[in-house]
Amino acid sequence: MRGATGEGDAVSDDKHKLRVGVLISGGGTNLQAIIDAAELGELDAEVVVVVSSHEEAYGLERARKAGIPAIYIDRTRYATMKEYNHAICEALDQYWAEVVVMAGYMRLLGREVLEKFPSRVLNIHPALLPAFPGASGIQEAFVYGVKVTGVTVHFASENFDEGPIIAQEVVRIEEDDTVETVEAKIHSVEHRIYPAALQLLAEGRILVEGRRVRILEKAGA
Ligand code: GRF
Repeated sequence: MRGATGEGDAVSDDKHKLRVGVLISGGGTNLQAIIDAAELGELDAEVVVVVSSHEEAYGLERARKAGIPAIYIDRTRYATMKEYNHAICEALDQYWAEVVVMAGYMRLLGREVLEKFPSRVLNIHPALLPAFPGASGIQEAFVYGVKVTGVTVHFASENFDEGPIIAQEVVRIEEDDTVETVEAKIHSVEHRIYPAALQLLAEGRILVEGRRVRILEKAGA
């Protein structure tokens, strides 16, 4: 498969589409952006399964509408986090996922999943990490009074919002912004840069060197 590489191997295979499993807990607008980009041919990937930690997550409905298997995994059915994470691995395996995309997944991902997909689990955060980690990054940045915030796409690790950074984009907070207008700006950036980061992975252009992530030139460019 292609993806993050330790050797700078950017070989492309036009026929292969990266098989992506998406983890969600909520509305799934980022999931939708990825589905749409794939359908438009802007992303050489296919969402093969969507797994939710919430039964009522609207993202499950988005998946069903797109004809993608949508699975709710109930944490309370498992005695330990380890067993719960094994169930996530099984769902990803069942559909041959090669890459895992966390898109508003509100739980810490277990080692079981991270070790199975080394440098192949992505997360998106609505602030410029390492600033404003956690579940309220947009609001906290706004209340703090920063003039710039933004979006971070990074590899997931065993801690929240901490893995190597793949992409960041700045969003300016202007005088007349409210937390709602900043949210809207952040989400629109998210919906553009998450599929773009995934495309880099699909093209084998992501090289991880410790905490640093290098983006390789496009083959033939
Ligand atoms: C996004 O803001 C993302 O950055 C954060 O959770 C939110 C998910 O939104 N991790 P959605 O479910 O994709 O609409």
